Amino acid sequence: MKNSQFPTAFLWGGATAANQVEGAFNEGGKGLSTFDIVPFVEKKDRVGIPLDITLEQYERYSKTTELVNFPKRRGSQHYQQMKEDVALFAEMGYKVYRLSISWPRIFPTGVEAEPNEAGLQFYDALFDELIKYDIEPLVTMSHYEMPLALTERYNGWESRAVIALFLKYAKVVLERYQAKVKYWIPFNELNMMLTSAYTGGGVLVEKSPKHELAVKYQASHYQLVAQAKTMELARQLIPNVQLGAMIARLETYAATAKPLDVLTAVQEDQLNFFYTDVSVRGAYPRYMTRFFKEQDITLDITAEDTKILSEQTADYVAFSYYMSYLAAHDESGEKTSGNLVDSMKNPYLALSEWDWPIDPVGLRITLNRMYDRYQKPLFIVENGLGATDVLTAEGTVHDTYRIDYTKVHLQQIAEAIADGVEVMGYTNWGCIDLISCGTNEMSKRYGFIYVDADDYGNGSYKRYRKDSFYWYKQVIESNGEEL
Ligand code: BG6
Repeated sequence: MKNSQFPTAFLWGGATAANQVEGAFNEGGKGLSTFDIVPFVEKKDRVGIPLDITLEQYERYSKTTELVNFPKRRGSQHYQQMKEDVALFAEMGYKVYRLSISWPRIFPTGVEAEPNEAGLQFYDALFDELIKYDIEPLVTMSHYEMPLALTERYNGWESRAVIALFLKYAKVVLERYQAKVKYWIPFNELNMMLTSAYTGGGVLVEKSPKHELAVKYQASHYQLVAQAKTMELARQLIPNVQLGAMIARLETYAATAKPLDVLTAVQEDQLNFFYTDVSVRGAYPRYMTRFFKEQDITLDITAEDTKILSEQTADYVAFSYYMSYLAAHDESGEKTSGNLVDSMKNPYLALSEWDWPIDPVGLRITLNRMYDRYQKPLFIVENGLGATDVLTAEGTVHDTYRIDYTKVHLQQIAEAIADGVEVMGYTNWGCIDLISCGTNEMSKRYGFIYVDADDYGNGSYKRYRKDSFYWYKQVIESNGEEL
Protein backbone atom coordinates (compact mmCIF):
# COMPACT_ATOMS: atom_id res chain seq x y z
CA MET A 1 0.00 0.00 0.00
CA LYS A 2 1.27 3.45 -0.93
CA ASN A 3 0.32 5.94 1.71
CA SER A 4 1.29 9.50 2.30
CA GLN A 5 -1.11 10.38 5.07
CA PHE A 6 1.55 10.89 7.72
CA PRO A 7 2.43 14.52 8.46
CA THR A 8 6.04 15.48 7.78
CA ALA A 9 6.70 16.09 11.47
CA PHE A 10 5.33 12.65 12.43
CA LEU A 11 7.37 11.22 15.28
CA TRP A 12 8.40 7.69 14.28
CA GLY A 13 10.24 5.63 16.82
CA GLY A 14 10.30 2.94 19.45
CA ALA A 15 9.60 2.54 23.15
CA THR A 16 11.06 0.75 26.16
CA ALA A 17 10.87 0.95 29.94
CA ALA A 18 13.81 1.10 32.34
CA ASN A 19 12.66 -1.83 34.46
CA GLN A 20 12.41 -4.12 31.42
CA VAL A 21 15.45 -3.09 29.39
CA GLU A 22 18.17 -1.60 31.58
CA GLY A 23 19.16 -4.41 33.94
CA ALA A 24 22.08 -3.39 36.21
CA PHE A 25 19.61 -3.45 39.09
CA ASN A 26 22.25 -2.80 41.73
CA GLU A 27 24.82 -0.78 39.78
CA GLY A 28 25.56 2.93 39.86
CA GLY A 29 23.98 3.35 43.28
CA LYS A 30 20.51 2.25 42.15
CA GLY A 31 18.08 1.14 44.85
CA LEU A 32 15.72 -1.82 44.50
CA SER A 33 12.67 -1.10 42.44
CA THR A 34 9.25 -2.64 42.97
CA PHE A 35 9.73 -4.62 39.74
CA ASP A 36 13.10 -6.03 40.77
CA ILE A 37 11.30 -8.50 43.01
CA VAL A 38 8.76 -9.87 40.53
CA PRO A 39 9.83 -13.46 39.82
CA PHE A 40 9.87 -15.45 36.62
CA VAL A 41 7.29 -18.22 36.65
CA GLU A 42 7.18 -20.95 34.00
CA LYS A 43 4.02 -20.79 31.88
CA LYS A 44 2.69 -24.08 33.23
CA ASP A 45 2.92 -22.79 36.81
CA ARG A 46 1.33 -19.39 36.27
CA VAL A 47 -1.79 -18.54 38.24
CA GLY A 48 -3.60 -15.22 37.86
CA ILE A 49 -1.63 -12.11 36.92
CA PRO A 50 2.04 -13.12 37.27
CA LEU A 51 3.20 -9.58 37.94
CA ASP A 52 0.92 -8.99 40.91
CA ILE A 53 2.71 -10.20 44.01
CA THR A 54 1.25 -11.13 47.35
CA LEU A 55 2.35 -9.84 50.73
CA GLU A 56 3.94 -13.21 51.46
CA GLN A 57 5.94 -13.12 48.19
CA TYR A 58 6.90 -9.55 48.89
CA GLU A 59 8.35 -10.49 52.29
CA ARG A 60 10.29 -13.36 50.70
CA TYR A 61 11.59 -11.71 47.51
CA SER A 62 12.50 -8.27 48.82
CA LYS A 63 15.39 -9.82 50.77
CA THR A 64 17.00 -11.81 47.93
CA THR A 65 19.84 -10.62 45.71
CA GLU A 66 19.82 -13.48 43.20
CA LEU A 67 19.50 -12.88 39.46
CA VAL A 68 18.22 -16.02 37.77
CA ASN A 69 14.67 -15.90 39.02
CA PHE A 70 14.26 -12.14 38.58
CA PRO A 71 14.68 -11.30 34.89
CA LYS A 72 13.93 -7.61 35.32
CA ARG A 73 17.11 -7.31 37.37
CA ARG A 74 19.02 -8.29 34.22
CA GLY A 75 16.85 -6.64 31.56
CA SER A 76 18.56 -6.60 28.16
CA GLN A 77 21.74 -5.08 29.57
CA HIS A 78 20.84 -1.76 27.99
CA TYR A 79 22.56 -0.01 30.87
CA GLN A 80 25.84 -1.54 29.68
CA GLN A 81 25.17 -1.33 25.92
CA MET A 82 23.28 1.95 25.71
CA LYS A 83 25.46 3.59 23.06
CA GLU A 84 25.26 0.64 20.72
CA ASP A 85 21.48 0.47 21.17
CA VAL A 86 21.00 4.15 20.40
CA ALA A 87 23.19 3.77 17.30
CA LEU A 88 20.85 1.00 16.12
CA PHE A 89 17.79 3.19 16.75
CA ALA A 90 19.49 5.93 14.74
CA GLU A 91 20.22 3.49 11.94
CA MET A 92 16.47 2.78 11.71
CA GLY A 93 15.98 6.53 11.43
CA TYR A 94 14.11 7.10 14.68
CA LYS A 95 12.80 10.61 15.23
CA VAL A 96 11.80 9.81 18.79
CA TYR A 97 12.71 7.27 21.45
CA ARG A 98 10.39 6.66 24.37
CA LEU A 99 12.23 5.56 27.50
CA SER A 100 11.59 5.74 31.18
CA ILE A 101 13.79 6.98 33.96
CA SER A 102 14.17 4.57 36.83
CA TRP A 103 13.06 6.50 39.91
CA PRO A 104 15.19 4.29 42.24
CA ARG A 105 18.25 5.07 40.10
CA ILE A 106 17.77 8.72 41.06
CA PHE A 107 16.44 8.28 44.60
CA PRO A 108 17.38 4.73 45.72
CA THR A 109 14.86 4.63 48.55
CA GLY A 110 12.78 7.62 47.54
CA VAL A 111 13.41 9.54 50.75
CA GLU A 112 17.02 10.75 50.34
CA ALA A 113 17.51 14.49 50.50
CA GLU A 114 19.91 14.47 47.54
CA PRO A 115 19.68 12.54 44.25
CA ASN A 116 22.13 9.85 43.18
CA GLU A 117 24.54 11.61 40.84
CA ALA A 118 25.63 8.40 39.08
CA GLY A 119 22.01 7.70 38.13
CA LEU A 120 21.56 11.21 36.77
CA GLN A 121 24.73 10.87 34.74
CA PHE A 122 23.50 7.69 33.06
CA TYR A 123 20.47 9.55 31.65
CA ASP A 124 22.61 12.58 30.76
CA ALA A 125 24.72 10.30 28.64
CA LEU A 126 21.64 8.64 27.13
CA PHE A 127 20.02 11.96 26.21
CA ASP A 128 23.30 13.27 24.79
CA GLU A 129 23.57 10.18 22.65
CA LEU A 130 20.00 10.61 21.38
CA ILE A 131 20.55 14.28 20.65
CA LYS A 132 23.72 13.43 18.74
CA TYR A 133 21.50 11.53 16.27
CA ASP A 134 18.63 14.08 16.32
CA ILE A 135 16.34 11.70 18.18
CA GLU A 136 13.80 13.38 20.49
CA PRO A 137 13.59 11.71 23.90
CA LEU A 138 10.05 11.05 25.12
CA VAL A 139 10.37 10.37 28.81
CA THR A 140 8.07 8.45 31.13
CA MET A 141 8.89 9.36 34.73
CA SER A 142 7.43 6.24 36.24
CA HIS A 143 6.87 3.21 34.07
CA TYR A 144 5.47 0.73 36.56
CA GLU A 145 8.16 1.17 39.14
CA MET A 146 9.15 3.08 42.19
CA PRO A 147 11.69 2.62 44.96
CA LEU A 148 10.78 -0.59 46.76
CA ALA A 149 11.44 1.14 50.07
CA LEU A 150 8.31 3.23 49.47
CA THR A 151 6.18 0.09 49.42
CA GLU A 152 7.71 -0.91 52.73
CA ARG A 153 7.32 2.51 54.29
CA TYR A 154 4.06 3.82 52.80
CA ASN A 155 2.44 0.94 50.92
CA GLY A 156 3.26 2.87 47.77
CA TRP A 157 0.68 5.21 46.32
CA GLU A 158 -1.83 4.30 49.00
CA SER A 159 -0.26 7.14 50.94
CA ARG A 160 -0.59 10.84 50.19
CA ALA A 161 3.00 11.25 51.40
CA VAL A 162 4.23 9.72 48.14
CA ILE A 163 2.99 12.75 46.17
CA ALA A 164 5.68 14.94 47.72
CA LEU A 165 8.36 12.29 47.21
CA PHE A 166 7.43 11.91 43.57
CA LEU A 167 7.51 15.67 43.13
CA LYS A 168 10.97 15.84 44.63
CA TYR A 169 12.08 13.29 42.04
CA ALA A 170 10.18 15.00 39.21
CA LYS A 171 11.76 18.37 40.10
CA VAL A 172 15.25 16.90 39.99
CA VAL A 173 14.81 15.28 36.57
CA LEU A 174 12.92 18.21 35.07
CA GLU A 175 15.59 20.65 36.21
CA ARG A 176 18.46 18.44 35.17
CA TYR A 177 17.12 17.56 31.71
CA GLN A 178 15.11 20.68 30.89
CA ALA A 179 17.35 21.58 27.96
CA LYS A 180 17.35 18.04 26.59
CA VAL A 181 13.80 16.73 26.94
CA LYS A 182 10.63 18.39 25.67
CA TYR A 183 8.17 15.43 25.68
CA TRP A 184 7.19 13.99 29.06
CA ILE A 185 4.67 11.50 30.41
CA PRO A 186 4.55 11.43 34.22
CA PHE A 187 3.03 7.92 34.53
CA ASN A 188 2.81 4.92 32.25
CA GLU A 189 -0.73 3.58 31.82
CA LEU A 190 -2.49 5.21 34.76
CA ASN A 191 -5.23 2.57 34.59
CA MET A 192 -2.82 -0.26 35.47
CA MET A 193 -3.63 0.53 39.10
CA LEU A 194 -6.94 -1.29 38.61
CA THR A 195 -5.33 -4.44 37.23
CA SER A 196 -2.41 -4.68 39.58
CA ALA A 197 -2.03 -2.03 42.25
CA TYR A 198 1.45 -3.37 42.96
CA THR A 199 2.57 -2.83 39.37
CA GLY A 200 0.74 0.46 38.95
CA GLY A 201 1.53 1.91 42.33
CA GLY A 202 3.67 -0.26 44.61
CA VAL A 203 0.55 -1.05 46.64
CA LEU A 204 0.05 -4.39 48.38
CA VAL A 205 -3.72 -4.43 48.73
CA GLU A 206 -3.58 -6.97 51.54
CA LYS A 207 -1.69 -4.45 53.66
CA SER A 208 -4.50 -1.92 53.53
CA PRO A 209 -7.48 -1.76 55.89
CA LYS A 210 -9.60 -0.56 52.95
CA HIS A 211 -11.35 -2.84 50.48
CA GLU A 212 -9.57 -3.52 47.21
CA LEU A 213 -11.33 -1.08 44.90
CA ALA A 214 -11.22 1.66 47.52
CA VAL A 215 -7.42 1.35 47.83
CA LYS A 216 -6.98 1.26 44.08
CA TYR A 217 -9.00 4.40 43.42
CA GLN A 218 -7.40 6.23 46.33
CA ALA A 219 -3.94 5.40 45.00
CA SER A 220 -5.09 6.45 41.53
CA HIS A 221 -6.26 9.78 42.91
CA TYR A 222 -2.90 10.50 44.50
CA GLN A 223 -1.16 9.64 41.23
CA LEU A 224 -3.47 11.94 39.30
CA VAL A 225 -2.73 14.76 41.73
CA ALA A 226 1.01 14.06 41.47
CA GLN A 227 0.69 14.14 37.70
CA ALA A 228 -1.05 17.55 37.77
CA LYS A 229 1.54 18.97 40.18
CA THR A 230 4.33 17.62 37.98
CA MET A 231 2.75 19.35 35.01
CA GLU A 232 2.68 22.62 36.91
CA LEU A 233 6.37 22.28 37.72
CA ALA A 234 7.28 21.30 34.17
CA ARG A 235 5.44 24.30 32.73
CA GLN A 236 7.30 26.63 35.09
CA LEU A 237 10.64 25.22 33.98
CA ILE A 238 10.33 24.35 30.30
CA PRO A 239 8.59 26.91 28.10
CA ASN A 240 7.68 24.62 25.17
CA VAL A 241 7.18 21.46 27.20
CA GLN A 242 4.72 18.83 25.87
CA LEU A 243 2.98 16.87 28.60
CA GLY A 244 1.07 13.68 28.02
CA ALA A 245 -1.32 11.65 30.14
CA MET A 246 -1.30 7.98 29.31
CA ILE A 247 -3.61 4.99 29.54
CA ALA A 248 -3.57 1.46 28.18
CA ARG A 249 -6.48 1.93 25.83
CA LEU A 250 -8.86 -0.97 26.21
CA GLU A 251 -11.19 -0.36 23.26
CA THR A 252 -14.29 -2.31 24.24
CA TYR A 253 -16.96 -3.65 21.89
CA ALA A 254 -20.30 -5.05 22.94
CA ALA A 255 -20.35 -8.82 22.48
CA THR A 256 -23.78 -8.62 20.81
CA ALA A 257 -26.30 -5.96 19.81
CA LYS A 258 -28.29 -6.69 23.00
CA PRO A 259 -28.79 -3.31 24.71
CA LEU A 260 -27.50 -4.68 28.03
CA ASP A 261 -24.29 -5.83 26.36
CA VAL A 262 -23.90 -2.41 24.75
CA LEU A 263 -24.46 -0.74 28.11
CA THR A 264 -21.83 -2.98 29.74
CA ALA A 265 -19.36 -2.02 27.01
CA VAL A 266 -20.12 1.69 27.58
CA GLN A 267 -19.56 1.31 31.32
CA GLU A 268 -16.30 -0.60 30.92
CA ASP A 269 -15.08 2.01 28.51
CA GLN A 270 -15.95 4.76 30.98
CA LEU A 271 -13.79 3.10 33.62
CA ASN A 272 -10.92 2.97 31.12
CA PHE A 273 -11.46 6.60 30.08
CA PHE A 274 -11.75 7.74 33.70
CA TYR A 275 -8.01 8.42 33.87
CA THR A 276 -7.76 10.46 30.71
CA ASP A 277 -11.06 12.17 31.47
CA VAL A 278 -9.57 13.53 34.70
CA SER A 279 -6.20 14.30 33.08
CA VAL A 280 -7.57 16.06 30.01
CA ARG A 281 -10.86 17.53 31.20
CA GLY A 282 -9.52 18.45 34.63
CA ALA A 283 -12.29 17.02 36.80
CA TYR A 284 -13.79 13.76 37.98
CA PRO A 285 -16.39 12.64 35.44
CA ARG A 286 -19.99 12.53 36.68
CA TYR A 287 -20.37 8.81 35.89
CA MET A 288 -17.90 8.06 38.69
CA THR A 289 -20.19 9.51 41.38
CA ARG A 290 -22.65 6.65 40.98
CA PHE A 291 -19.88 4.09 40.58
CA PHE A 292 -18.13 5.19 43.78
CA LYS A 293 -21.41 5.16 45.69
CA GLU A 294 -22.32 1.67 44.52
CA GLN A 295 -18.84 0.37 45.25
CA ASP A 296 -18.75 1.98 48.69
CA ILE A 297 -15.77 4.16 47.87
CA THR A 298 -15.12 7.44 49.63
CA LEU A 299 -11.99 9.20 48.50
CA ASP A 300 -9.69 11.61 50.26
CA ILE A 301 -9.92 14.55 47.83
CA THR A 302 -9.04 18.02 49.09
CA ALA A 303 -10.06 21.38 47.63
CA GLU A 304 -6.43 21.90 46.69
CA ASP A 305 -6.46 18.60 44.75
CA THR A 306 -9.55 19.63 42.82
CA LYS A 307 -7.96 22.97 41.99
CA ILE A 308 -4.69 21.56 40.67
CA LEU A 309 -6.50 18.89 38.64
CA SER A 310 -8.57 21.58 36.94
CA GLU A 311 -5.60 23.87 36.30
CA GLN A 312 -3.02 21.40 34.99
CA THR A 313 -4.30 19.24 32.18
CA ALA A 314 -2.47 17.26 29.52
CA ASP A 315 -1.30 18.69 26.19
CA TYR A 316 -1.69 15.37 24.41
CA VAL A 317 -3.17 11.96 25.10
CA ALA A 318 -0.71 9.09 25.01
CA PHE A 319 -1.87 5.51 24.89
CA SER A 320 -0.83 1.96 24.26
CA TYR A 321 -2.89 -0.17 21.94
CA TYR A 322 -2.47 -3.89 21.51
CA MET A 323 -5.99 -5.22 21.04
CA SER A 324 -9.70 -4.65 21.48
CA TYR A 325 -11.89 -6.24 24.15
CA LEU A 326 -15.41 -7.63 24.27
CA ALA A 327 -17.95 -6.90 26.97
CA ALA A 328 -21.17 -8.71 27.76
CA HIS A 329 -23.74 -8.38 30.51
CA ASP A 330 -23.41 -12.12 31.09
CA GLU A 331 -19.69 -12.82 30.97
CA SER A 332 -19.84 -16.60 31.05
CA GLY A 333 -18.63 -16.94 27.41
CA GLU A 334 -15.23 -18.14 26.23
CA LYS A 335 -12.30 -15.97 27.36
CA THR A 336 -8.95 -15.08 25.85
CA SER A 337 -5.98 -13.36 27.38
CA GLY A 338 -4.94 -9.76 26.75
CA ASN A 339 -2.95 -6.78 27.87
CA LEU A 340 -3.80 -5.90 31.51
CA VAL A 341 -7.10 -7.79 31.49
CA ASP A 342 -8.59 -10.89 29.93
CA SER A 343 -11.43 -10.51 27.50
CA MET A 344 -14.26 -12.52 26.11
CA LYS A 345 -13.23 -14.10 22.85
CA ASN A 346 -14.10 -12.17 19.70
CA PRO A 347 -14.78 -14.81 17.00
CA TYR A 348 -13.83 -12.39 14.23
CA LEU A 349 -10.26 -11.83 15.38
CA ALA A 350 -7.11 -13.92 15.04
CA LEU A 351 -4.99 -14.42 18.15
CA SER A 352 -1.27 -13.90 18.70
CA GLU A 353 0.90 -16.69 20.05
CA TRP A 354 0.13 -15.34 23.53
CA ASP A 355 -3.62 -15.38 22.74
CA TRP A 356 -3.95 -11.62 22.39
CA PRO A 357 -6.55 -10.70 19.75
CA ILE A 358 -5.17 -8.82 16.73
CA ASP A 359 -7.42 -5.96 15.71
CA PRO A 360 -5.84 -3.22 13.59
CA VAL A 361 -9.21 -1.70 12.68
CA GLY A 362 -9.80 -1.34 16.40
CA LEU A 363 -6.90 1.09 16.45
CA ARG A 364 -8.61 3.30 13.87
CA ILE A 365 -11.84 3.07 15.86
CA THR A 366 -10.09 4.00 19.09
CA LEU A 367 -8.19 6.89 17.48
CA ASN A 368 -11.45 8.31 16.20
CA ARG A 369 -13.26 7.83 19.49
CA MET A 370 -10.48 9.34 21.57
CA TYR A 371 -10.14 12.32 19.27
CA ASP A 372 -13.89 12.89 19.34
CA ARG A 373 -13.78 12.77 23.12
CA TYR A 374 -10.79 15.00 23.77
CA GLN A 375 -9.95 17.01 20.64
CA LYS A 376 -6.31 16.75 21.66
CA PRO A 377 -3.37 15.37 19.70
CA LEU A 378 -2.93 11.64 20.22
CA PHE A 379 0.35 9.77 20.56
CA ILE A 380 0.47 5.99 20.13
CA VAL A 381 3.32 5.31 22.51
CA GLU A 382 3.06 1.51 22.49
CA ASN A 383 1.94 -1.05 19.93
CA GLY A 384 3.62 -4.22 18.78
CA LEU A 385 3.59 -7.98 18.57
CA GLY A 386 5.01 -10.29 21.22
CA ALA A 387 6.23 -13.45 19.48
CA THR A 388 8.81 -16.22 19.64
CA ASP A 389 11.75 -15.46 17.34
CA VAL A 390 14.38 -17.78 15.96
CA LEU A 391 17.85 -16.42 15.36
CA THR A 392 19.21 -17.88 12.13
CA ALA A 393 22.78 -19.00 11.51
CA GLU A 394 23.27 -15.82 9.47
CA GLY A 395 22.45 -13.74 12.53
CA THR A 396 19.01 -12.46 11.66
CA VAL A 397 15.35 -13.23 12.39
CA HIS A 398 12.80 -13.67 9.62
CA ASP A 399 9.91 -12.06 11.50
CA THR A 400 7.38 -11.62 8.73
CA TYR A 401 4.62 -11.97 11.36
CA ARG A 402 5.88 -8.84 13.14
CA ILE A 403 6.15 -6.88 9.90
CA ASP A 404 2.60 -7.92 8.98
CA TYR A 405 1.26 -6.94 12.39
CA THR A 406 2.96 -3.55 12.38
CA LYS A 407 2.06 -2.85 8.78
CA VAL A 408 -1.69 -3.34 9.23
CA HIS A 409 -1.68 -1.19 12.36
CA LEU A 410 0.20 1.60 10.60
CA GLN A 411 -2.24 1.39 7.70
CA GLN A 412 -5.10 1.96 10.12
CA ILE A 413 -3.29 4.92 11.67
CA ALA A 414 -2.98 6.37 8.18
CA GLU A 415 -6.73 5.85 7.73
CA ALA A 416 -7.43 7.58 11.04
CA ILE A 417 -5.25 10.52 10.02
CA ALA A 418 -7.27 10.68 6.78
CA ASP A 419 -10.40 10.66 8.98
CA GLY A 420 -9.08 13.89 10.49
CA VAL A 421 -7.52 12.59 13.69
CA GLU A 422 -4.40 14.43 14.89
CA VAL A 423 -1.72 11.80 15.54
CA MET A 424 1.65 13.05 16.76
CA GLY A 425 3.64 9.88 16.49
CA TYR A 426 4.08 6.16 16.87
CA THR A 427 6.60 4.43 19.10
CA ASN A 428 6.67 0.71 18.56
CA TRP A 429 6.76 -1.23 21.81
CA GLY A 430 9.85 -3.09 22.86
CA CYS A 431 11.78 -1.90 19.82
CA ILE A 432 14.71 -3.86 21.20
CA ASP A 433 13.91 -7.22 22.85
CA LEU A 434 13.31 -6.79 26.56
CA ILE A 435 11.73 -8.59 29.48
CA SER A 436 7.99 -8.95 29.10
CA CYS A 437 6.09 -6.93 31.64
CA GLY A 438 3.24 -9.37 32.14
CA THR A 439 5.06 -12.69 32.06
CA ASN A 440 8.66 -11.76 32.89
CA GLU A 441 9.88 -13.73 29.90
CA MET A 442 12.66 -12.84 27.50
CA SER A 443 11.15 -15.25 25.00
CA LYS A 444 8.10 -13.04 24.40
CA ARG A 445 9.89 -10.68 22.04
CA TYR A 446 8.64 -7.44 20.53
CA GLY A 447 11.84 -5.97 19.13
CA PHE A 448 13.12 -5.07 15.71
CA ILE A 449 16.48 -5.76 17.35
CA TYR A 450 17.12 -9.26 18.67
CA VAL A 451 18.94 -9.65 21.99
CA ASP A 452 20.70 -12.97 22.45
CA ALA A 453 19.48 -14.01 25.90
CA ASP A 454 16.98 -16.52 27.23
CA ASP A 455 14.50 -16.52 30.10
CA TYR A 456 17.22 -17.49 32.56
CA GLY A 457 19.81 -14.94 31.48
CA ASN A 458 21.91 -17.34 29.39
CA GLY A 459 23.33 -15.84 26.21
CA SER A 460 25.81 -13.32 24.87
CA TYR A 461 23.41 -10.34 24.98
CA LYS A 462 24.66 -9.48 21.51
CA ARG A 463 22.31 -7.46 19.30
CA TYR A 464 21.09 -8.61 15.83
CA ARG A 465 18.98 -6.81 13.25
CA LYS A 466 15.75 -8.67 12.43
CA ASP A 467 14.01 -8.43 9.02
CA SER A 468 11.57 -6.02 10.67
CA PHE A 469 14.53 -3.71 11.43
CA TYR A 470 15.14 -3.10 7.71
CA TRP A 471 11.44 -2.92 6.97
CA TYR A 472 10.79 -0.27 9.66
CA LYS A 473 13.80 1.72 8.52
CA GLN A 474 12.31 2.01 5.08
CA VAL A 475 8.87 2.88 6.49
CA ILE A 476 10.44 5.79 8.37
CA GLU A 477 12.56 6.85 5.39
CA SER A 478 9.45 7.08 3.21
CA ASN A 479 7.44 8.71 6.02
CA GLY A 480 4.97 5.86 5.89
CA GLU A 481 4.54 5.85 2.12
CA GLU A 482 6.19 2.45 1.77
CA LEU A 483 3.98 0.32 3.96
C1 BG6 B 1 2.12 -2.40 28.25
C2 BG6 B 1 3.22 -2.01 29.21
O1 BG6 B 1 0.90 -2.40 28.87
O2 BG6 B 1 2.24 -3.68 27.67
C3 BG6 B 1 4.59 -2.55 28.85
O3 BG6 B 1 3.28 -0.61 29.34
C4 BG6 B 1 4.46 -4.00 28.43
O4 BG6 B 1 5.46 -2.35 29.94
C5 BG6 B 1 3.52 -4.10 27.24
O5 BG6 B 1 5.67 -4.63 28.18
C6 BG6 B 1 3.38 -5.48 26.66
O6 BG6 B 1 3.00 -6.39 27.65
P1 BG6 B 1 3.83 -7.72 27.91
O7 BG6 B 1 3.19 -8.32 29.09
O8 BG6 B 1 3.66 -8.54 26.68
O9 BG6 B 1 5.23 -7.31 28.12
